[in-house]
Amino acid sequence: MKALVTGGAGFIGSHTVDRLLEEGYEVRVLDNLDPKVHPKGIPGYLAAEAELIKGDVRNKEDLRRALKGVDIVVHQAAYQDYLPDYSTFFHTNVVSTALIYEVIREDGLEVEKVLVASSQAVYGEGQYRCEEHGLVQPPARPQEQLERGDWEVRCPFCGRYMEPMLLGEEHANPSSPYGTSKYSQELAAIRLGRLLGIPTVALRYSITQGPRQSLYNQYSGICRIFTLRLLNGKPPIIYEDGKQTRDYVHVDDVVEANILVLRSEDANYEVFNVGSGRPTTVLEYAELLAKKLGEEVEPIIPGEYRVGDARHSVSDISKLSSLGWSPKKDLEDIFEDYIVWVEGLGDLGTYFEEADRRMREMKVIRKVST
Ligand SMILES: NC(=O)c1ccc[n+]([C@@H]2O[C@H](COP(=O)([O-])OP(=O)(O)OC[C@H]3O[C@@H](n4cnc5c(N)ncnc54)[C@H](O)[C@@H]3O)[C@@H](O)[C@H]2O)c1
Repeated sequence: MKALVTGGAGFIGSHTVDRLLEEGYEVRVLDNLDPKVHPKGIPGYLAAEAELIKGDVRNKEDLRRALKGVDIVVHQAAYQDYLPDYSTFFHTNVVSTALIYEVIREDGLEVEKVLVASSQAVYGEGQYRCEEHGLVQPPARPQEQLERGDWEVRCPFCGRYMEPMLLGEEHANPSSPYGTSKYSQELAAIRLGRLLGIPTVALRYSITQGPRQSLYNQYSGICRIFTLRLLNGKPPIIYEDGKQTRDYVHVDDVVEANILVLRSEDANYEVFNVGSGRPTTVLEYAELLAKKLGEEVEPIIPGEYRVGDARHSVSDISKLSSLGWSPKKDLEDIFEDYIVWVEGLGDLGTYFEEADRRMREMKVIRKVST
């Protein structure tokens, strides 16, 4: 059996490559080695047994070469950022997905399964219960509200604060260009899969963490930024009030989910969350990480917010659990594995300052006006 992993030189992709090799697959990687993720070229962790095609998922001929003779496709390559080059999200994440099915049909390929990497970002501001209006999927919080430092989510109909709910797969309400592209990608994949009779699955990963997460990637978030600051002797900077909740999943659990849905016929044409199912506030996260690193520093909460951030994002994982999956690793494991990896890299420098500077320049980070 032969597998194609697009984005296989990346974080989740490379761990999936290793696991597929262990399972006895021949593995081909299609990756353009995006300099934002891989400024030093081919990452040293990429398995030598995997065949690497350096190419772009937006390029039909690159995809044609990569798809030749494969039985399964794991589509991990993506454009992930906070920056306003909207069309890049759709070219890289959606058009590439349509091209995969187009080439499969044109070349009469016998692909048995396609797995696309979606994201919790498809939920946008999330799902809430309003005392009066029941289930509400609100739009992103208005700027005027955030400028006042009023962080919790209000009902768009009556203005009451609402209770956050676990995010269920039956609803999607993306607000960012990235989230919108990921939702479009899911729709394209599952519908084109059905049209061609190619079993397809989309997995909505929560914040995935672990070794190999790029230190350069602006989007790779909280663990990278907080760890780098703490290891550089600086306190983590927390946006809003730190009580926003997130859900973190170890990359090993994500790889298990990938393998499970590739095998399971019950997963075909379905969308599943892959997360921890448990809320962790950003403040708790920062405190736990500082403790793990043995640093006694209080985080800074300067009254800033990041445009487009959701207030509460914790996925309901019962649908995937019903197929026999459950997360085996917790935050402690995430920190342990990530810290060992980052310390092993040695050249920590000031990557975090560069990411911060870029987001301020693009006005993605703003300060409350009071
Ligand atoms: N890491 C997370 O927390 C997370 C959460 C939700 C969803 N996801 C999704 O999981 C997938 C993998 O994410 P990751 O964290 O491993 O990202 P990553 O940036 O580490 O890896 C992505 C890989 O894709 C490659 N790539 C980017 N654009 C490409 C293009 N046009 N053509 C070919 N290759 C290209 C990059 O070079 C990189 O090797 C993505 O689809 C992402 O949207 C990730």
